[in-house]
Amino acid sequence: MIKKRVGVLISGSGSNMHALVKASRIVDYRAEIVCVVSNKPEAGGLKIAQDEGIATHVVNHKNYSTREAFDAALNDYLQSQNLDLIACAGFMRIMTPVLIAPWQGRMINIHPSLLPLYKGLHTHQRAIDDGQKFGGCSVHYVTLELDGGPLIAQTQVPILKGDTAETLAARVLVEEHKLYPVALAKVAQSLGARQKTIQ
Ligand code: GRF
Repeated sequence: MIKKRVGVLISGSGSNMHALVKASRIVDYRAEIVCVVSNKPEAGGLKIAQDEGIATHVVNHKNYSTREAFDAALNDYLQSQNLDLIACAGFMRIMTPVLIAPWQGRMINIHPSLLPLYKGLHTHQRAIDDGQKFGGCSVHYVTLELDGGPLIAQTQVPILKGDTAETLAARVLVEEHKLYPVALAKVAQSLGARQKTIQ
């Protein structure tokens, strides 16, 4: 089995990226994490990746005057890594077609809500304010619609009496760390099947 080459995009603590890295070490796992790229030089996840022996790279968005220029620089780096897939894991940038189009069908994201509910930010607070019984997390393909691409996998998490955005976020994050590796494996497998058909 040839493992699919995956680049992970982060902006922060990188706990989902770490979950993917740990899963990728399992012998039969269908993907390997080749590089971790951050738009923020101070992202905590960079050290985690380095400690795991994974190549890291920073494309600092502050060095670019437009979103498109930043996306072009990031895409150039990703293209240079000969990747099959991109996994966004707490990558807090709105992406333009410059970055999304070349990876259409090969770029996925994890979002902390039960999509299509609560796209965007502050998902847990909004779910609590609405009196929802469940929150959760979703993995989806990245398309031009923010948090709106086709769903790959989802986990429900109960919202408990007295939950705050913080307590709910912590409970959901535990599930994100289980869901994302499963979803990435599923996408890597389906990509393999598609590539065989094309050959
Ligand atoms: C996660 O909740 C993810 O769903 C959201 O941002 C958070 C990132 O956490 N997009 P981490 O950087 O993976 O620890």
